[in-house]
Amino acid sequence: MVSKAVLITGCSSGIGAATARRLAGKGWRVYATARRAEAISALREAGCETLALDVTDERSMQEAVAAVEAREGAVGVLVNNAGYSQSGALETLSLDAVRRQFETNTFGALRMAQLVLPRMRAQGFGRIVNVSSMGGKLTFPGGGAYHASKHALEALSDALRFEVRGFGVDVIVIEPGLIRTGFAEAAGRAMEPPQPGPYAAFNAAVAQATSDVYERGPLAALGGPPDAVAKVIARALAAGRPKARYTVTPSADLLLAQRRLMSDAAWDGFLRGNFPSPGPE
Ligand SMILES: NC(=O)c1ccc[n+]([C@@H]2O[C@H](COP(=O)([O-])OP(=O)(O)OC[C@H]3O[C@@H](n4cnc5c(N)ncnc54)[C@H](OP(=O)(O)O)[C@@H]3O)[C@@H](O)[C@H]2O)c1
Repeated sequence: MVSKAVLITGCSSGIGAATARRLAGKGWRVYATARRAEAISALREAGCETLALDVTDERSMQEAVAAVEAREGAVGVLVNNAGYSQSGALETLSLDAVRRQFETNTFGALRMAQLVLPRMRAQGFGRIVNVSSMGGKLTFPGGGAYHASKHALEALSDALRFEVRGFGVDVIVIEPGLIRTGFAEAAGRAMEPPQPGPYAAFNAAVAQATSDVYERGPLAALGGPPDAVAKVIARALAAGRPKARYTVTPSADLLLAQRRLMSDAAWDGFLRGNFPSPGPE
């Protein structure tokens, strides 16, 4: 028996919750997980099993994977969705904050893949879905730590895709654009307390832009709800031969095309029109 049980990280809100609901609704056996198990009790009514899982905690990751394997034989599909943005000018960020960013967005995803792969390989089937971002391919100022963590996730996914294909395991990268979730609020909470200095106005503008971009301005209309991502993940899982990458929403298609077509200098010029440039007073 091949297990196609799905384990999803970060289901307390946004894309993770929408994906858990959509996949359960389509008949997948879904293990929705979150750091705070009480935050996902409603997903049980939607037909999901729920488990506690913090992707920065080795024991928590091992226990969640073992619980699914004990019941299903293997995790058939892993959706690495948990993530947040540690925003702020790079000179102002503590390295601890940057390390935490990578622990969640990058190392957590890699470790989860390492934990599920032995049983996926043994059953000759598996799918690992890494929720990256258009921000895994382009960079906005003030988002250096976040973008670095997602660029790294893209590279890990590319290498892993090659390494595990022969075992029947597909690695799929999802690149959402602007998705209206708890993301902007979480980014605001994660920001370090404002400090006076040369980046004070810039960091304040980044915080403001992070919430505004979802609400107003030309890009807001090109975003989408979390279920737009869930739909694409469902499509990738139903495909006989899934693509390596899927973008989600016109905002991702537009900005990724723009970044590909523009030189670095032209891209920087575009950003200068949208963000204040730090410099001497
Ligand atoms: N929204 C966007 O515009 C957008 C665009 C591109 C990519 N993405 C990516 O999509 C993914 C989901 O984000 P979202 O937009 O749905 O934001 P969200 O609503 O803030 O959801 C993020 C989820 O990640 C969880 N999480 C954070 N740290 C965790 C940890 N250590 N262990 C387990 N779970 C953890 C959060 O749980 P808690 O409630 O416990 O904090 C929450 O459930 C992220 O990887 C994000 O980078 C989002």
